[in-house]
Amino acid sequence: MLKVEHLTKKYGSVVAIDDISFTVKQGDIVGLLGPNGAGKSTTIKTISGLLRKTAGSITIDNYTNTSQAAKRRFTYVPEVPELYDMLTVWEHLVFIAYAYDVADFEAKAERLIERYDLWDKKDKLAKELSKGMKQKVSICCALLPEPDLYLFDEPMIGLDPKSIRETKLIFKELSEQQKTVLISTHLLDSIENLCHRVLVMKQGEIIVDMAMEEMKEKLGNNEIVSLEDLFLEVTRDE
Ligand SMILES: Nc1ncnc2c1ncn2[C@@H]1O[C@H](COP(=O)(O)OP(=O)(O)O)[C@@H](O)[C@H]1O
Ligand SMILES: [Mg+2]
Repeated sequence: MLKVEHLTKKYGSVVAIDDISFTVKQGDIVGLLGPNGAGKSTTIKTISGLLRKTAGSITIDNYTNTSQAAKRRFTYVPEVPELYDMLTVWEHLVFIAYAYDVADFEAKAERLIERYDLWDKKDKLAKELSKGMKQKVSICCALLPEPDLYLFDEPMIGLDPKSIRETKLIFKELSEQQKTVLISTHLLDSIENLCHRVLVMKQGEIIVDMAMEEMKEKLGNNEIVSLEDLFLEVTRDE
């Protein structure tokens, strides 16, 4: 579903992503882990086409990531929600519905804002919302078009416990519907029981690319103690 090959991204002379390759197959939830500054957000922004890559190739369902065909197939939740100050919560969903040509969006949109406890905020302007509420609106906007691929950059940050649980549940549902999800996070416990595969980044490189099955095997024969243990071990500064 998503194929990243020899991707490099430089900000001026800073190499933020250094020749990374990975694939995410349809129906999988993949966790993109790594300490602050590892390059997770840069990777996700480059996949979504917001940043221009320096080298390499990115395809979504075999379409170049910047093509119209690719853009119809994914949505993106940025690390910091970017909403339109002067649109209400409901108007954001209407806008997305038109942009993505979502048929019969009203019932779907209502269900989403109910799940995220935004019903009473429906007619509030984005500028009047708290950071957590903005994050919830941003997630609802990404879910409404029901694309094949979802790119979430630190989606749990700023959410209350109920919304975190709802979001995890939604990830599970998406995977059951054979949708594909890439989630970046530095909160290991938020994805440990959710992902089919984990990628660990450090200083712009992918240093671990492991299926959860393999991880569980290693846990079983005591090769590793926990995901946290593995993470701390591989990302340790020598
Ligand atoms: N706009 C930018 N200009 C210059 N350097 C940047 C910019 N954004 C990120 N970086 C650098 O790129 C590296 C990766 O950052 P980022 O992708 O945000 O990491 P993460 O999301 O894993 O915390 C860091 O060294 C960061 O300082
Ligand atoms: Mg980040």
